[in-house]
Amino acid sequence: MQSLIFATNNPNKVAEIKNVVGTHFNIITLREAGIDIDIPEPHDTLAANAVEKSSTIHRLTQQNCFSEDTGLEVAALNGQPGVLSARYAGANATSTENIHKLLRELGNNTHRKARFRTVISLILNKQTYFFEGICNGTITTAPSGEDGFGYDPIFIPDGSTKIFAQMTMDEKNQYSHRKKATAQLIQFLTETTF
Ligand code: IMP
Repeated sequence: MQSLIFATNNPNKVAEIKNVVGTHFNIITLREAGIDIDIPEPHDTLAANAVEKSSTIHRLTQQNCFSEDTGLEVAALNGQPGVLSARYAGANATSTENIHKLLRELGNNTHRKARFRTVISLILNKQTYFFEGICNGTITTAPSGEDGFGYDPIFIPDGSTKIFAQMTMDEKNQYSHRKKATAQLIQFLTETTF
């Protein structure tokens, strides 16, 4: 089976992507690869940050790998926080702080459309490929739910009445941006001969 290092330290992302990948290929986490570094996200696009992560791990290991970068783009905030989603409320902001800043910025605005966008960067045999997944939805007026991570407590995907943080991982993966990008990655790997 094809093995790929997943260049992330976020255990939620690993769990969600493993749930989608199943037995299509083997995911090696950074910890399993013996790598303990925090890779910066200094760029102003999701794609550039994703490449920063995948190319850093490729430089260190010379092995096939992939990474992803995700942002929450809120229409009434001109697409913010977008690529700055992790640091919206400050450099070391917690998800709770980011959520509260977002709800404060939106205030009573009734236009609450938003989307999650995930860009995956794959480095396979030294070539770089990109895959994108988008999940459209709405920002709630207050956080709710115990599951998921990040902005999940305030996001309802289109087609559902549940907030992401109220869903099991299987349910979230019926809608999720990360699932859609990963499905494209799987299809590409399935069609590519190694
Ligand atoms: P990054 O891709 O790790 O840079 O994530 C950017 C920000 O979006 C972080 O605050 C994450 O917690 C958040 N985030 C990433 N993916 C998701 C998701 O699937 N649901 C909710 N929040 C997410």
